[in-house]
This record gives sequence, C-alpha cells and structure tokens, in this order.
Amino acid sequence: MRLPIIAGNWKMNNTIEDAVKLANELKEEANKTDVKVVICCPFTVLADVRKAVEGSKIKLGAQNMHWEDNGAYTGEISADMLTEQGVEYVIIGHSERRQYFNETDETVNKKIKKALEKDLIPILCVGETLEEKESNTTNEIVKRQTVKAFEGVEAEDAKKIVIAYEPIWAIGTGKTASPEDANDVIAYIRNVVKETYSEEVSEVVAIQYGGSVKAANATEIMNQEDIDGALVGGASLKAEEFSAIINF
Ligand code: PGA
Repeated sequence: MRLPIIAGNWKMNNTIEDAVKLANELKEEANKTDVKVVICCPFTVLADVRKAVEGSKIKLGAQNMHWEDNGAYTGEISADMLTEQGVEYVIIGHSERRQYFNETDETVNKKIKKALEKDLIPILCVGETLEEKESNTTNEIVKRQTVKAFEGVEAEDAKKIVIAYEPIWAIGTGKTASPEDANDVIAYIRNVVKETYSEEVSEVVAIQYGGSVKAANATEIMNQEDIDGALVGGASLKAEEFSAIINF
C-alpha cells in the first residue's frame, strides 16, 4: 500500500512572519490526517518553519537544489545546506524551473542523483504543455522526462522518488485535468517505471497529481486508483484550503 503524500509548494511566497503563521495554522490539521504532509518553502524561511513545525507530522521540503556538493556556483544551494536545515524532500524539475531557468532533463537527472545520494527525497515533476497535449504527445513527453530523470538510478533508490504529474496548462490556471485523465497519465507513468525497473518498483513509487488542486476537487482527485497524492501550489498558501486538502 502506498501512503498518500500531499505537498504544498509555496513557490516565491511568504517572508518569515507569514511563513511561521501559516505553518502554525497547519500543524494541528496535519496531525489529524493519515497522509504524509510536506511543505516546500523558500530557502530563507526554512529555519523558522522548521522550529514552528517541530513535533508535528509536517515534513520540510525545498523547491530546488544544485547537483554539485559545493563550489563557485553563485546563488545556488547544495543538498548539504538543505539537510542541515532539516529538509527531507526537494522538488526537482518543476515546470517553472524548466521554463524560466532553463533546466533540462539532463540537469534534472543530476539533481535527482545528488538528492538521493544525500538522503533527500526528490519530488520529480513531469508534465506536458498545452501545445503538447493538443498534439496528443502527453505520454511521449512524460515518458521521456521520467526515463531521463531516472537514468543511472538504482532500483532501491528509484523506489524512494516521488513523481508529480503536473500538466503545465493546469498550473496556476484554475484548469484541472479531469480526475480520470490525470489517473490515466499517472497509470501510464507507473507503467514507464515498471518497464524501466520492475513491477515491484512501480508499485512502490508514489505518483502525485499537481495543477490547480484545491479543497473543492481534492477528494475526487485523491479517490483515483493510481493517484497517490497532490502537489499543491496556490491553495497551499491558505491554511483553510490546504487543511481541507490534507484531510480530503
Ligand atoms: P497550482 O500549482 O496548484 O497553483 O496550480 C501547482 C504547482 O505548480 O506545483
């Protein structure tokens, strides 16, 4: 049985005061749910959010990291810098990073391998653009992104990776994939993992849906057979919304 995992992606939002307030509001709600709860914060609030969520079920996540251990990489953050802050999860290859910061399947793969080496759980994002969806290449795109991201990763490590299927046209747009369509793509991704590794690995890997998940559609999405959770952007910034999602 895969335990559902719901992660909030705060993106570039919340300075310390707001971050701590939100984390405090979420704490009790998180303790009521059976699902795994992660909040992926900006680097600058990690230390304070860590203190705020101490003793609760909420796990700390980051939104990006570099693949090198250290060195002359101005403005970057390493895996060790994250684990030192109590970070356990890291989003890798979010479409906004691929789109605005030129991340490629190759850099995503390097980051995945480094994260695993440092005992961070990667939340690997894959998903197609509207154009790709309309030209019926969704499966081809998510297959390529998944296969490349897992390249050189051993089966035991592959089991730890969380995949987030996030159709780009659904992110921050208020448009969601229908739960059935999302489930179909996620089942397809699971099959890609099976072909790459084995049935055993594919049955363990958690695959989330992301893209305009909110309290009003969370239950329907979470009830799909192959969907193991959600990666939530906008709605994770509101305590009431995110609390309802994690207690779907
Ligand atoms: P959204 O973002 O929930 O605001 O659509 C999801 C994401 O980018 O992870």
